[in-house]
Amino acid sequence: MPLPRRHGLFTLGAIEFAGAELGISGLGFEFALALCFNVLAGQILEKILAHHITRNFNKSCFAAPLSTIIRRRRHKYMDLFEAIEKRYSYRGAFKAEPIPRAHLKMIVQAGLQAPSARNAQTTNFIIVDKPELLKAIGGLHPNNLAMQQAKAMILCLIDRQPEPVYEGYSFQIEDCAAATENMLLAITALGYASVWIDGWLRCHNHAEVIGRLLHVPKDKVVRVLLPLGVPAEAGARKEKKPFPERAWFNGFGLPEA
Ligand SMILES: Cc1cc2nc3c(=O)[nH]c(=O)nc-3n(C[C@H](O)[C@H](O)[C@H](O)COP(=O)(O)O)c2cc1C
Repeated sequence: MPLPRRHGLFTLGAIEFAGAELGISGLGFEFALALCFNVLAGQILEKILAHHITRNFNKSCFAAPLSTIIRRRRHKYMDLFEAIEKRYSYRGAFKAEPIPRAHLKMIVQAGLQAPSARNAQTTNFIIVDKPELLKAIGGLHPNNLAMQQAKAMILCLIDRQPEPVYEGYSFQIEDCAAATENMLLAITALGYASVWIDGWLRCHNHAEVIGRLLHVPKDKVVRVLLPLGVPAEAGARKEKKPFPERAWFNGFGLPEA
């Protein structure tokens, strides 16, 4: 890496000074030394820059692909409350943009981090990003564009006969719901959209058909499916009832004191 002219002149001046101090002079000598200094300083500077760039690159993106970095940079700092507010069920078209595996892993990691009763961590996850499988699953839901055009799907599995984990109770549905909501928020925070597909899975054997496609063991069932992608349009948002209609301090239905 050649040094800027300014540095070259500075080096030359320094050499001239050193040469005068030592009683040596001559333009050839000065020039040769300056050249050595320049090359040496250039190499050092290059090493420092390379180290700095590599360190920051690894720190900021955990070695993810460039598209991932750009997207994550854009969305990395979405506040939790902003993600909660922005999340909504999207059933519309998706852009052609693929979802990098690094993002799919981040989203599922958010699901893995969710609370579960007695920390039993009962929910399993299958991530689908193979086009043939996406087509086969999406084709089962002709009324839902998001299902048909999903660039990836995340499925949550629970046991068909959940074991009790506390006082004879099992909590696999709650565990699965907590993981699902965590993932929906992560999906939103990364700029994607999705919809919680659950009721549909239970109708017309859809969960069974999908389970067979994905080699799900017989003792497990697909309980939630999240189709995801970059939304191509603004979907319809549902109104939420205001706070005082559903939530109260210190007793059901009490006005705030
Ligand atoms: C347990 C559960 C099951 C759901 N099942 C389906 C479903 O099968 N198909 C669907 O299109 N949406 C389904 N949804 C999404 C709801 O319809 C949606 O969350 C609701 O209308 C509120 O809209 P919002 O998500 O935009 O706030 C489900 C949501 C939950 C929590």
